[in-house]
Amino acid sequence: MSPVALSALFVAAAASLVQAQNPVATFPATPLASKHFAYPSGIPYQADSEQLIRGTQTGYNICNSTTENQNSLCQTSFVNSIDDFCLWAPIKPNSAIADTEGEEVAWCTKPGRGTRLIPADALKGVEFTRTPDYLQVVGFIDQTKINIADGDFGGELDPHGADLRGNPLGGLMYSNGWSNDNNSFTQVIEWHNFMGGNGFCIKVCDPSKTHAADFCQHTLDRIGCKYNAPNAAQSGVFQSCQGDNQDFPGVYTTNGATVTYSQPPESLGAITSIPYEPRVPASSNCVTYTSSALYAALANVTPAPGVSASSSGSVSASASASGSASGSGSSSRPGTSSGSAAGSSATGNSNDASVIVMSGLVSVMGVIFSAIFLS
Ligand SMILES: *[C@@H]1O[C@H](CO)[C@@H](O)[C@H](O)[C@H]1NC(C)=O
Ligand SMILES: *[C@@H]1O[C@H](CO)[C@@H](O)[C@H](O)[C@H]1NC(C)=O
Repeated sequence: MSPVALSALFVAAAASLVQAQNPVATFPATPLASKHFAYPSGIPYQADSEQLIRGTQTGYNICNSTTENQNSLCQTSFVNSIDDFCLWAPIKPNSAIADTEGEEVAWCTKPGRGTRLIPADALKGVEFTRTPDYLQVVGFIDQTKINIADGDFGGELDPHGADLRGNPLGGLMYSNGWSNDNNSFTQVIEWHNFMGGNGFCIKVCDPSKTHAADFCQHTLDRIGCKYNAPNAAQSGVFQSCQGDNQDFPGVYTTNGATVTYSQPPESLGAITSIPYEPRVPASSNCVTYTSSALYAALANVTPAPGVSASSSGSVSASASASGSASGSGSSSRPGTSSGSAAGSSATGNSNDASVIVMSGLVSVMGVIFSAIFLS
């Protein structure tokens, strides 16, 4: 949501405050990231039961066979493995992430948890990485099939937000990635998910580790997957690897000194250059799969009515949208392409004025995602 829309909200709230003599607060008593629920036994109907300035939670957290359909409003999500993860995406077709960040729902690759399923063939390449401190999934997607408008360069979701209610409000995240048993789930306290530009990255940080909040940094919401989730994802390749930890997003070394990048405020306009190239960590033990084997359960899942026949979705379409793709999108390596960051072009919708695409980046992962008010 843009600052303009945010201030409009505050104005509206101020007006209703005067009328109703009934103050509308912004912050919950307990931030979402401080609410801990065991899965599945401790899950509340809604993790956010507030009536605050941003309204109420759109969906619910108790998800089961009755909620398992393509209209599900389940907001309990998972990142487990290359064949078993969810992404946050809109309820209705052709939505912009910036307009719907508070109400995204879970779209998953595995049935059985009461969520929507990602339609067949939407995923165009997925890299799953397990490192000592986190699990990361980066990929290419026909985003129209999960209700993201064609051409939307999207934004960032995380369990914080300016009002500490999360984006989406009440969204919960779990993983069996740190269990011996696939049926034991750990609540993920720190995670981030960038969606848009026909790509995505989602990282869930092991809550038992000291630096979970650092690896899953949620404040660099304008500089996309390349900087927040350095990766070697390739279009058309489905691969699961072990990897070393990345640097904390925004932290880099130059001339022997460790420096922390500060994202400029939106009021200063477009981000036209970033003073470093993120390091893509080494990976090992990579196993390559076919998408049909990984996502067999999605074979008959179709996009929602109202999603137009895919005009988008190809990675090359997105690459050309970035203005100066010099390579074919299908062979680019998102994390390693070096951006000249020479120029930028603004695009986006009316509510999202500062979507920036850095030229010279050949793939969607290099895209500078739109600013999102709640980081
Ligand atoms: C299934 O989930 C819905 C939505 O959260 C909830 O209302 C319903 O009580 C659940 N059913 C069972 C049997 O838990
Ligand atoms: C756990 O899940 C992973 C990923 O789906 C799978 O490869 C593995 O076989 C599962 N383990 C068991 C014990 O079912």
